[in-house]
Amino acid sequence: MSNSLSRRQWLKSGLLASAGTMALPAFVNEAYATALTGPYGTVYADRERELAFEAALAAAPQLKARLSANENPWGPSAKAKEALIKSVDTSFLYAGPVVMELRKMIAQQAGVSEEHILLGAGSSELLSASVMMAAPKGKILMADPCYISSRDDKSDSSGMQLDKVALTKDYQYDLNAMAPRVSSQTSLVYICNPNNPTGVMLPAEQLRSFCESMSPKAPVLVDEAYIDYAPNPKTDSMVDCIRKGQNVIVLRTMSKLHAFAGLRVGYAIAQPAMIKELRKYCSGGFSISTPSAAAALASLADTEFQNFALQKTNESKKFLYDFLKQADYSWLPSSTNFVLFPLRMKSQPFMAKMMEEGVSVRRWEFDNQHWCRVSIGTLDQMKAFAGAFQKVVS
Ligand SMILES: Cc1ncc(COP(=O)(O)O)c(C=O)c1O
Repeated sequence: MSNSLSRRQWLKSGLLASAGTMALPAFVNEAYATALTGPYGTVYADRERELAFEAALAAAPQLKARLSANENPWGPSAKAKEALIKSVDTSFLYAGPVVMELRKMIAQQAGVSEEHILLGAGSSELLSASVMMAAPKGKILMADPCYISSRDDKSDSSGMQLDKVALTKDYQYDLNAMAPRVSSQTSLVYICNPNNPTGVMLPAEQLRSFCESMSPKAPVLVDEAYIDYAPNPKTDSMVDCIRKGQNVIVLRTMSKLHAFAGLRVGYAIAQPAMIKELRKYCSGGFSISTPSAAAALASLADTEFQNFALQKTNESKKFLYDFLKQADYSWLPSSTNFVLFPLRMKSQPFMAKMMEEGVSVRRWEFDNQHWCRVSIGTLDQMKAFAGAFQKVVS
């Protein structure tokens, strides 16, 4: 404890105290971006990387614009905050009743029974549970790139075997190439829709017919982390496949539109037998705190806030599109709160230089191309991005 405290003090007082004005070492930039993607996939094999992780987190508040983790800077909603504060008085109690109430509300909103719902401290917990369930039984089929396609690198210790299928030329899921790959060796099909890092969304009908034909062969997990930003979240969701009895798992998070990234609330919707199976690999909702569950109840009922956050996101996204157009850069059409666009320089120095300007973004390399993924922030943050970008690429 004292060791970790003194390390933090050192980080704050030393190098990182001046993070806004001086360059951070490249590995810190790298770790920073990775750290901000959340706990899933953040596995550090050595001490240096662990320290870099902490250093990166300590530097975070000094940024002008934190646009690397697809957070929602307009929230949480006032009603969620009120519920959060009120619930502190009862937070000496275990969260059982309020978590059960939350499960009931989510079930009602999704049009399924409570037995179809599993809660987690963020959807990362439930994604990890799904992977732990599937990994020993066979291969996990997915697109490349998608949110978990880099999980079989050297730092991953889960031993999972990934079967990756490249995206099409227009960066869409290639369902025609994926379908014949579903075999008796496949223990899970992972579809991230809309996809991270591309932001591109599959037409609902195409995905629906894929789920219908593939789910008798292997469970199909549809990660809907960004579905709230889709044109028609209700009809674009695959929840109806579950209502029809198919072996589909839908994962949702409140980290995005509801702005709960730090409050940690996510859920899975699946057949009751699958929920029972997944429960073996996670806490079954026990990891959600009373204040987080109370705030979630308030936020799910607050459609006014959700519409407000959507409208703000769209305004800032339009600013970004206009800026990129005027700078003569293209981008992938985004159904999310982030945008991926091709760079004309290597992504590592780009990200490092943006960081020196006080703006954090994520970088990607695929299809022989270097890419920047920028989260949608407030207009001021997008202006900071635009200013930094102009400096860095000129
Ligand atoms: C596609 C996708 N799935 C799942 C998650 C995990 O979200 P959380 O654990 O905050 O619910 C993220 C986070 O960014 C994501 O992008």
